Amino acid sequence: MNRTTIIAGVLSLAVWGCSDSSAPENAPLNAKQQAILEMKRATDFHSYSQPDEARVVHLNWDASVDFDRRVITGTATYDIACAADAERIVFDINGLTIESAYVDGVPADFNIGPEQAFIGQPLSIPVTGETKQVAIRYATAPDADALLWVEGESPFLFTQSQAILARTWVPCQDSPGIRFTYNATVQVPNNLMALMSATNPTEKAATGTYSFEMAQPIPSYLLALAVGDVEFREIGPHTGVYAVPELIDAAEYEFAEMEDLLVAAEGLYGPYAWERYDLLVLPPAFPFGGMENPRLTFATPTIIAGDRSLVSLVAHELAHSWSGNLVTNATWDDFWLNEGFTVYFEQRIMEAVYGADISEMLVTLSYQGLVDEVDAIMDLNPDDTHLKLHLKNRNPDDGMTAIAYDKGYFFLRLLEQTVGRESWDEFLRAYFARHAFSVMDTDDFIAYLKEELLNTPELLAAVNLDAWIFGAGLPENCPKVRSQRIERVDALLADWVSGAASTESLPWKEWVYQERYRFLSNLPDDTPAERLSELDAAWSITATGNNEVLFAWLEQGIRSRYTPCYDRLRSFLEVVGRRKFLTPLYRAMEETGQGELARDIYRTARPNYHSVATGTMDELLGLAEPS
Ligand code: BES
Ligand code: ZN
Repeated sequence: MNRTTIIAGVLSLAVWGCSDSSAPENAPLNAKQQAILEMKRATDFHSYSQPDEARVVHLNWDASVDFDRRVITGTATYDIACAADAERIVFDINGLTIESAYVDGVPADFNIGPEQAFIGQPLSIPVTGETKQVAIRYATAPDADALLWVEGESPFLFTQSQAILARTWVPCQDSPGIRFTYNATVQVPNNLMALMSATNPTEKAATGTYSFEMAQPIPSYLLALAVGDVEFREIGPHTGVYAVPELIDAAEYEFAEMEDLLVAAEGLYGPYAWERYDLLVLPPAFPFGGMENPRLTFATPTIIAGDRSLVSLVAHELAHSWSGNLVTNATWDDFWLNEGFTVYFEQRIMEAVYGADISEMLVTLSYQGLVDEVDAIMDLNPDDTHLKLHLKNRNPDDGMTAIAYDKGYFFLRLLEQTVGRESWDEFLRAYFARHAFSVMDTDDFIAYLKEELLNTPELLAAVNLDAWIFGAGLPENCPKVRSQRIERVDALLADWVSGAASTESLPWKEWVYQERYRFLSNLPDDTPAERLSELDAAWSITATGNNEVLFAWLEQGIRSRYTPCYDRLRSFLEVVGRRKFLTPLYRAMEETGQGELARDIYRTARPNYHSVATGTMDELLGLAEPS
């Protein structure tokens, strides 16, 4: 393979959009090296891969899922593009057993390097400039970090690859800047359906064999697989939902507005690039609210409230179809480019579909969360409040804070406010179109922004990019948000606390979830249990079906030692593995001298949680092995 092939590879990617080039750092270079270097790539400290030397272009995955042994065995066959002088291709692996490797169909040597915490090991396979294909036969470990095997009458398996867990179930160049197309053949027990971030079946196959195709190039963190006894229901022409039989009716109702969200999103920032948008309701152990796997969002069942009140999460994962999946953060230090843009886009979708009243309530709630989290992080490590992160030698998971999400959001809202919505929307449409199917790092974004939007000294001065992106805390020019409905809640809360307003006078029944959440999450920490008892008697809050409301209630219940909610607390924590709920609840127990209760519940609940959650909770509860 020679430079022409490399360039052909780049050109074939260019069908999906152009990839910008960055200036080579080391001169002099020959023409071939130059061409390779011009394939844009930021240094990714979280991957061993050396894409300048040899990189994957297409994956053909052939796998078999064994629930009894909790193992996936498979062969990953990659089409690759190599530099003329390439000597090896390097993959990331973590906990995989590599059985054999083949280069262009011929058995080949391979080498596995030493292991680093979080990162795993490099797998090197010798190639030449001419090599077209490498294949790796392997098996996953029963405790692979990406995978959660759910037992019981209805077994379920799901993966969570972001940020760097794909390498625990597929050998891959596990860096968000490296994209590839894929197809797959997966064998599962024949009473279960298999789904991926790709074209998907809508019926079970009697043989248990399923085929998939992802024709658009994606980064490895968007590789996803789920296997379970699920059914499909169509929502609209391009949308649908998968869930287990017990939840399929509820899911169909809850997500009935998915097609409207999709239409609104396209109206804002351009055509949807992935053909279909479906959603899979996962078991409650799913450690996140949602994950934007292309064509098939993975979602926690805890957003099924019965009244469609928690669909902003769907708007968020849908928005990632542009910010993240189309224009992808180059490294995990640039995570805000994925999440900040997505929160912004999410709010615009919410505003378009449900009105500014609702979206401003949501933003007001997230502002409060942001201010609290900025305060907390400033005490620990102020650098972690910069939009541009420094996660070298750290778990990229550390970057999953309100900074990327909500400081990112407010920065983009400031840009909107500074140039006006019309120019801003035009800028964003062009941004997604110009950079579709390519990567973006913070410096390139700044350059693009200065060229296309902030092109006068006045605009630059009004925004203060440095303070937002490379500075700590929340800059002074952070946009102010106001929601009259939230202000009314705050006033009533103050009156209720002082005794000026009775429990019965609260308009709880008229409040939507955002208002209820605001009320409960702002109760003073030292509210006496008797006062919670009054609220519970009036509104049966312990029995609520809205998990966000329940979460805020349980947290206050712990702080007030309102023991009538402790059974619900325990059953909630034994079933739900969503880290956003677990962390504050276990922490509240720890902080209020109820650590024994926390550890007792955790002992039973832990086997049900995903590694992402146990990693955080082990540390929080002082159970982590010293590293
Ligand atoms: N992509 C994220 C989830 C993620 C981030 C997983 C980093 C692993 C590493 C997803 O889009 C997300 O942000 N989910 C949020 C919900 C959202 C409404 C803020 C969540 O799960 O809480
Ligand atoms: Zn997100």
